[in-house]
This record gives sequence, C-alpha cells and structure tokens, in this order.
Amino acid sequence: MTHVLAICGSRRAESKTRVALETALDEAARAGASTDLLDLRALDLPPLDADHDAEDQGDGARLIEAVDVADAVLLGTPVYHGSYSGVLKNALDYCGFDEFEGKTVGLLAVAGGSFPVTALDHLRSVCRALNCWVVPHQAAVPRAYRHVSYEDGEGAITDADIEERLRVLGRRVVQYANIEPDPETFEASENVGAGD
Ligand SMILES: Cc1cc2nc3c(=O)[nH]c(=O)nc-3n(C[C@H](O)[C@H](O)[C@H](O)COP(=O)(O)O)c2cc1C
Repeated sequence: MTHVLAICGSRRAESKTRVALETALDEAARAGASTDLLDLRALDLPPLDADHDAEDQGDGARLIEAVDVADAVLLGTPVYHGSYSGVLKNALDYCGFDEFEGKTVGLLAVAGGSFPVTALDHLRSVCRALNCWVVPHQAAVPRAYRHVSYEDGEGAITDADIEERLRVLGRRVVQYANIEPDPETFEASENVGAGD
C-alpha cells in the first residue's frame, strides 16, 4: 500500500498548516493510501549539529525512519518572513539524499497575508537540491484567518476552492507516489555537499 507522510512546519497548538495537511491527507487516504502526520512538537529535534550524525541527535532517527518508509511526503509550512519556517528547515536538515532522492513530494503553504508563493518556491528549490520528484500542483492558503477556522479544538477549511486545491494535492501525491524517477536534477548533481 502507498504510504504518505505529512510534515507540519508549525508548532502552534491551533496550527492552520496542520489543518491544511490533514485535509490533503484525508484525500490521500480516500485515494487508497495509508497516512501519517508527523507533528514536530512530538519530536526532540535540537538545531542540527553537523559535527554529529543526525540519527544520534535527539529523535533524529525517528524522523529519518518516518521519511524513509514513506512513498510520498507532503511538506506543509506556515509563511514566515516570506519563506518557509525554520522548524521545517531544521527537520529537513536532519534528512538527505538517502531519504529524499527520487521521492514524490507535495508542497503546501499557509500565510497570514495574501502571498504564500515564495515559501513554495523556496521549498521547491530545496526539493530539487535533494532530487525529489515534486508534484507540479501545489496548494497555497492565503489570508488563513479567513479560510481556516477552529472550533472546540477542531480545525476546518472554510473555503471550498482552497479545500479542493488541498484535496487535489492529496490525490496527486498518491497518483505519482511510485512514478519512475526523472534523471537527476542539475541542482542535485552539483549539490555534492549534501552527499558527504
Ligand atoms: C515569525 C512569523 C513570521 C511571519 N511572516 C509572515 C509573512 O512574511 N507573510 C505572511 O503572510 N504571514 C506571515 N506570518 C503569519 C503566518 O504565516 C500565519 O499566521 C500562518 O497562519 C501561520 O501558520 P500556522 O497557523 O500553521 O502556525 C508570520 C508569522 C510568524 C509567527
């Protein structure tokens, strides 16, 4: 069975990014996949110290294993200062080619403002450096305070068009989870440092 892992780059209790990821995962499950939402609040991931193996730091081994066994990964991030969050970057830094090379990845970003696209562009660049297969469709939630609500701790997407974009993302990562990898990206083949 295809397995989809989602990683949430926000640690907030009422994270709107988490709600968006849950929506995409719900659709991935409807498409026949097993799913898992990796909540980075539950893992001890100190800022990566590159002098030591990632699997020997905090819960690094658990994170690496979770990514490794997934056929596809959904990366969800809040927009922080026009980019993706440091929480997500630190988690990605624990991983490398071993876990991400050739892996299907779907991207989503959630912004307080109206322009979440730069965060998606930046994440797409990171994924190309790791030679992932990034789904062309991506989901952005602008003005999240309008389109994501929480009631009694339960989050919901309140805009039908945005919900559909999130659901299409969930379907696409399942559809392309086992796609034949493309030839290595130029960014990845020149990215020798990450393979050391
Ligand atoms: C440190 C920080 C920086 C932020 N920078 C931006 C930004 O540049 N553009 C924007 O639209 N929203 C920005 N926001 C707002 C968040 O993107 C917004 O609150 C989002 O819903 C957070 O996602 P979350 O609910 O999953 O935590 C920022 C929030 C924080 C905490």
